[in-house]
Amino acid sequence: MFGKKKQPIIKEDIIGVVKNSGLRHIAYIMDGNGRWATERSLPRELGHSAGAKNFKEVVKYSKNVGIRYVTVYAFSTENWKRPEREVAAIMKLLDQYIDEAALEDEIEFLFIGDRESVDPRIKERMSSLESLTVGRPFRVNIAFNYGGRDEIVHAVNRVLSDGRTVINEKDITDNVYTSDCPDPDLIVRTGAEFRISNFLMWQSAYSELYFSDKMWPDFKQADIDAAIIEFSKRKRRFGGV
Ligand code: IPE
Ligand code: IPE
Ligand code: MG
Repeated sequence: MFGKKKQPIIKEDIIGVVKNSGLRHIAYIMDGNGRWATERSLPRELGHSAGAKNFKEVVKYSKNVGIRYVTVYAFSTENWKRPEREVAAIMKLLDQYIDEAALEDEIEFLFIGDRESVDPRIKERMSSLESLTVGRPFRVNIAFNYGGRDEIVHAVNRVLSDGRTVINEKDITDNVYTSDCPDPDLIVRTGAEFRISNFLMWQSAYSELYFSDKMWPDFKQADIDAAIIEFSKRKRRFGGV
């Protein structure tokens, strides 16, 4: 009768938690696809397919619980080091996803990262998807060929190209790829690795960090709820008291 059995969290509660905690922007380091596949004796490529499927679920759920911005780390500037076959499989998944994304009606998409080394045909499709979806109420930023250091260098070069010789923090904030979004409130990394791996180096200065042991394809609604609840308990001080 006095047992501590936990009540299941219902969606309405989570919507309230999101609202009251001021959680607007979650960024995900979607790690663990390869290990998820290897644990099942599958090729790593199938881990990426499972990861892409889960990404769609996470986006849908995040939108439903009232998150305004989701950023996902899909491919880093360092991921080109992987075998050609794996890189090709990831490029193919991106290409396929662009078609599906165009059918969404409430999502605005932005690709963040260096597009210059992406296949010109895909690059063109990225831009078309952005133009098609601009101004929609829920934002998904897809970090593709993205590196945090690369982004800062890119931002600095943009400012310098205006003839400036001395720059300040605002110049960089205004010129990173996510300049029209608030910084992520919460960064979630799956895959039982406890590092940033060159993700949102500039924007993460005061983000709350949350690490999950789940591999990305296994990171489900209940796991998102747990991350959101943990976020709501954090005391964000931003250097104050
Ligand atoms: C993350 O999963 C996806 C990408 C980096 C593209 P990984 O492919 O890094 O999966 P693990 O870390 O090898 O398990
Ligand atoms: C980070 O994962 C990049 C993405 C999730 C796209 P990695 O698997 O590339 O990171 P490291 O190599 O373990 O640091
Ligand atoms: Mg990894």
